[in-house]
Amino acid sequence: MIYLDNAASSWPKPPQVVKSMEEVLLNYAANPGRSGHQLAAKAAEKIFETRARIAKLFHVKNPNDIVFTQNATESTNLALKGFLKPGDHVLTTSLEHNSIRRPLEFLKAKGVEVTYLNIHTGKDLHADLLEQSFRENTKLVAVTHASNVTGTILPIEMIGEITSRHGIRLLVDASQTAGFCSIDVDSMKIDLLAFTGHKSLYGPQGTGGLYVHPELDLVPLLHGGTGGYSELIDQPPIRPERFESGTRNTVGIAGLGAGVNFIEQTGLQQIQQHEQQLANYLVDELAAIPSIAVYGWEKNEFQCPIVSFAVEGFDANEIGFILDAHYQIAVRAGLHCSPLAHDSLGTSEQGGLVRVSFGYFNSEEDVKELVHALKDIIN
Ligand SMILES: Cc1ncc(COP(=O)(O)O)c(C=O)c1O
Repeated sequence: MIYLDNAASSWPKPPQVVKSMEEVLLNYAANPGRSGHQLAAKAAEKIFETRARIAKLFHVKNPNDIVFTQNATESTNLALKGFLKPGDHVLTTSLEHNSIRRPLEFLKAKGVEVTYLNIHTGKDLHADLLEQSFRENTKLVAVTHASNVTGTILPIEMIGEITSRHGIRLLVDASQTAGFCSIDVDSMKIDLLAFTGHKSLYGPQGTGGLYVHPELDLVPLLHGGTGGYSELIDQPPIRPERFESGTRNTVGIAGLGAGVNFIEQTGLQQIQQHEQQLANYLVDELAAIPSIAVYGWEKNEFQCPIVSFAVEGFDANEIGFILDAHYQIAVRAGLHCSPLAHDSLGTSEQGGLVRVSFGYFNSEEDVKELVHALKDIIN
């Protein structure tokens, strides 16, 4: 199988990820931080090790400002529902994944005002557009760091500079960029950073997290057991317990830590270079096929390694199905949980686009096989 669906979940995982998960399961899969015994302490230590690794990756000073969740969706829900109140105004974009859009629509029904800025690429979100859209009650800008449909990257530094100047908080959905782009929450002035473990961080599914600025207090999404502070009837005030009710996924978090370690060892620059090279190569090859149109790719721009395209005369899902069933090539076709992005690209009617997304373990040979299969299907 040729796997070209890394923007959905990266695969394969580095061997050290599998090894670290196996090590926990075999040796100390006790309940982290609950019972006082050695095995529980070892499990809690492992979780802290990953917390510290992630904090370092995002330049977060205190690892306890990183809250572990099950995925980016839980993180965006915690951030949005925990921060926004009826009467608040939030600015977002047409490029958002449903993990931002749906909680915002839910909050809209409860009295939160939502404005969607219609943009196609990161460059469309310029300072004037942002500042003109602020209202007296604007409390939050909630944006994706990169579109999961086209890979275009939003200018987070510029947005952060403006939001912080206006006393507005900034939530960034880093699902597509954590582990691919360098992220510094301080210099980018990010207040809330949602990430998922199973994409470019090379961890397993069921892992993710949220960075919460130390001065921000959110209403917890979940209430329940936190190991310590059992005598309190309310959620403990301290982090990360305040936001981490219920047993954490020790095995998954150990795998996530090993994934981050793989990124540290390989180097972000090496990862970016390899994946961008593959994406550029594919775009060049597709440009030579007249019935294929690539959307949202700008040559020589720094983008996430995502290439989405339409094939004239075919529904996107049909191409996805044929590639899988007849050529053993896995891509993702359709609307990619981002219907607004497809509306703004004008690709909703045709069933969306075919999306190819690269990971570190893909090669030029994979691109050649894909291009060969596409030419075969078209002919
Ligand atoms: C931009 C973006 N945000 C959020 C998500 C949701 O991630 P998860 O399914 O891990 O919650 C995705 C996943 O496809 C994504 O691409």
